[in-house]
Amino acid sequence: MKPKNLFLVGPMGAGKSAVGRQLAKLIHFEFVDSDDELEARTGVDIPFIFEKEGEAGFRAREAAVIDELTGRDGIVLATGGGAILDGDSRSRLGARGFVVYLQTSVDQQLQRTEKGRERPLLVSGDPRAILDKLMEVRDPLYREIADLVVATDGRRVQAVAREIFDAL
Ligand code: S3P
Repeated sequence: MKPKNLFLVGPMGAGKSAVGRQLAKLIHFEFVDSDDELEARTGVDIPFIFEKEGEAGFRAREAAVIDELTGRDGIVLATGGGAILDGDSRSRLGARGFVVYLQTSVDQQLQRTEKGRERPLLVSGDPRAILDKLMEVRDPLYREIADLVVATDGRRVQAVAREIFDAL
């Protein structure tokens, strides 16, 4: 059965965007990435928003985008790793679609965040220590709203997307 929407949550480097794109093709939904959407709306990149407005400014913008996007129908949404920190966003994600937590180890996150887009939270300190700490706080929040938890370590995008598709 097709849900109204499909929301992917999980930490940086979980593969939310790659899996989301694949999944959107499989279920013929539109793919949307909340970070990309935020950048398109502001006309600047995420590191710039963190620099000018701090994490609090970024979170307020992120919550507004999540509110709007979750109000749509027929989308696969890849959320930013910290989108679940906001209680209202958690409620909206939980109520407005099927939530999949892409569960990923810190080792795997480190490998996957080496290249690709810049993550402002990882630049000021030891990335492993930062990711460990974030996971401790966030893992329960991802689980709180997840309808399905899927392990992604060492797995291909295609296999993860297929598992989610089969579970629907
Ligand atoms: C963040 C994750 C990033 C992005 C921002 C903050 C976080 O998204 O929203 O850098 O708090 O974990 P990805 O999870 O897509 O990397």
